[in-house]
Amino acid sequence: MNIFIDKIIKEYDGRRVLDVESLQIKDGAFCGVIGPNGSGKSTLLNIIAGLTEATSGQVFYEEHGVTEPPFKNMTMVFQAPYLLRTTVEKNIAYPLKLRGWKPQDIDKRVRELADELGLTDFLKHKSWNLSGGEAQKVALARALSFRPDLLLLDEPTANIDPAATAEIERMLKKTNEEEGTTIIVITHNLVQAKRLCKEILLLNKGEAVEFGPGEKMLRNPDNELTRRFIAGEILT
Ligand SMILES: Nc1ncnc2c1ncn2[C@@H]1O[C@H](COP(=O)(O)OP(=O)(O)O)[C@@H](O)[C@H]1O
Ligand SMILES: [Mg+2]
Repeated sequence: MNIFIDKIIKEYDGRRVLDVESLQIKDGAFCGVIGPNGSGKSTLLNIIAGLTEATSGQVFYEEHGVTEPPFKNMTMVFQAPYLLRTTVEKNIAYPLKLRGWKPQDIDKRVRELADELGLTDFLKHKSWNLSGGEAQKVALARALSFRPDLLLLDEPTANIDPAATAEIERMLKKTNEEEGTTIIVITHNLVQAKRLCKEILLLNKGEAVEFGPGEKMLRNPDNELTRRFIAGEILT
């Protein structure tokens, strides 16, 4: 899914927290969003997801050359997974049920995702008995179940163990490479950003400081602010 951001401004009580002039995220991108606390990363992602309304400006979504009705085929994963109070299996199946998939197709897709994410033994477990890492893997499986064109993630691995983080990273990479899913991920982990992201956007005080190829940007940024952020000199 191509995403065009056109002069997005967000203000809370007259205080400007986001001001992004223009940004294009191309179909099939794996884009990381980095920046200090309070720099507007979640606000930007929530506006793209349609969960927050911009004060002014617009986001355009385009799939297969057609401007899509927004929010049709995108989904979001949050830092703290919120799961339905039922089994792992039913959590993953939920979006497919909503979309009217046939029971045998739902079953096949749920098993495939559980297998990919090491959740097969947990399918009958209740969601409230899972560890943080397991719960986040279920949230990801549920998000991917219906093969979204756009996947948005807000610090998805901030609170989870290294093994679950590695499985989630592997799944995101595979989904981007094999299904062409456009992915935008907010992360505080620059090593993770380097491992995953083809492009990186640095936000600071609500403004887009630098947007470019991830590896190059982290190794040799064009912008002095980016260099200072990577060096750990700007924290808030
Ligand atoms: N609902 C809200 N009401 C008022 N201020 C908000 C609200 N949501 C976010 N903010 C403010 O907007 C700024 C950007 O927040 P956020 O996008 O969450 O930053 P980040 O995700 O980069 O840490 C912060 O100063 C935050 O306090
Ligand atoms: Mg945030």
